[in-house]
Amino acid sequence: MHVQQRIPTGVPGLDNLLHGGLLEGDAVLVAGAPGSGKSTLGMQFLYEGILRYDEPGFFITFEEFPQQIYRDAMNFGWDFRALEEEDKLKVLFTSPDLMYQDIKRHEGIFPEMIREIGARRVVVDSLTHFQRLANNPGELREIIYSLINALKREGLTPLLLRELMEGEVTGTVAEEYTADVVIYLSMDRINNQRMRFLEVLKSRGSRHVPAKSLFFFSEQGLEIVPPFQEPQFRYQEAISLGVPELDTLIGGGIPYGAFYLFEVSSELHQEIFEVNFMRETLRADDHLFELTTTSTRQERLQQLAMNYGMKDDFDKGIATGALRLFNVSDEEDAEAVSLTEDDIWDEVTVGARRALAQLDEAFQATTRLKRGRLFLDLTRLITAIGEEDVFDMLTPALGMIQQYGGVCLGFLNPNAVPASAREKLRSEADGLVSIWREGNYEYIQVLKTLNAARTLVHGFVETSSPPYLRILEY
Ligand SMILES: Nc1ncnc2c1ncn2[C@@H]1O[C@H](COP(=O)(O)OP(=O)(O)OP(=O)(O)O)[C@@H](O)[C@H]1O
Ligand SMILES: [Mg+2]
Repeated sequence: MHVQQRIPTGVPGLDNLLHGGLLEGDAVLVAGAPGSGKSTLGMQFLYEGILRYDEPGFFITFEEFPQQIYRDAMNFGWDFRALEEEDKLKVLFTSPDLMYQDIKRHEGIFPEMIREIGARRVVVDSLTHFQRLANNPGELREIIYSLINALKREGLTPLLLRELMEGEVTGTVAEEYTADVVIYLSMDRINNQRMRFLEVLKSRGSRHVPAKSLFFFSEQGLEIVPPFQEPQFRYQEAISLGVPELDTLIGGGIPYGAFYLFEVSSELHQEIFEVNFMRETLRADDHLFELTTTSTRQERLQQLAMNYGMKDDFDKGIATGALRLFNVSDEEDAEAVSLTEDDIWDEVTVGARRALAQLDEAFQATTRLKRGRLFLDLTRLITAIGEEDVFDMLTPALGMIQQYGGVCLGFLNPNAVPASAREKLRSEADGLVSIWREGNYEYIQVLKTLNAARTLVHGFVETSSPPYLRILEY
């Protein structure tokens, strides 16, 4: 992809939503309810432009006297008067028709002043006033169109503010079609409180983050909080899930010692992730252990391996002990188990105790480089032996993960178990990934990781070759 020059707005967080900033020649519409923060965003755009990018700016207002603008700007430490004295800024209080006539003719006070200070940015507060110049929506659209073009021809990046009237919604505002970038400011109720949100609705010729972002007024102006979070640190070592795009999404894989929960609402999806994990474990010449409740589980896995063209690898894994299943429901030979003194083991059934003892031995046999991975089909486990027994078993199993430095991957169909079990697992897990189907498509979202990464919703499609799925950019 050809990388175009970006013009950062300078507003913290906004450029990230715009993948770096505006494109050369973009006209931006900022629409929002009264009091949503439009003028502040406009002032900040100009201030940051001057301070950080050496782009002089123009603030055109039809509503407030310059004195009010100076005062409001000063709240954030933006000394507009001083910038005017340095010829880096002009605050102009005028009428829409005067301004419109001047800019269309490219002469008169306003265009002259633009050239005088070499303005690169302009804020028009607000477009709402141009409605008076038009008799109908079509005419208004014409005016806005020629206004934007005239501003662009002067070499300006226009930020046009537009008040949203009660009941006006996305798609009904004529200016939306003319502007290259559309930003909506809204105030939504969260727990009986008004919270401010910013959403980029469109950005011509460029990607943007397609989600509402919370914003607040900081001492320095508006600050936009992204609806996702980049990893806060890199792991020294982490294991792969066998899907590189997924590893990236979860912040670089699963670090040793961690328990990650995958909430998967369909059997098919679970299989895909299972197969990838199995394949990756064998590829890395590592160990994969599973606590299961049925003696037929191995056959089922073998079938799965066959379906995904890895039967030979699977059989080899079983033969060498790289893949091992421990049946918690099998009460036979329980006496043969060497019982430990550990209290937490007392809670579990005899079969589980035996399986855990075997798992413990298997972990002990792993080396520092191959620490073992534990796979848990939590849906089946809970269905077969009940929530309580599963949690009694999970405690020592996760203890081993930490003690031996392995990882645990649990799969859960949240619709198939009691809500209490889901909640407990969610809070127990170090990482949480949700995978579901909605309408005709499939989605994945990372909700928590050990390095604090969080993502937006991504679509994914199934493919016919490994890793059998492709995660889509938004
Ligand atoms: N420093 C601040 N801290 C917190 N909130 C602030 C601060 N400054 C402004 N606000 C809030 O922002 C609101 C208005 O901001 P701004 O003038 O940017 O909005 P606007 O969308 O232009 O409003 P209008 O529709 O009235 O033109 C104020 O009513 C106030 O609630
Ligand atoms: Mg305003």
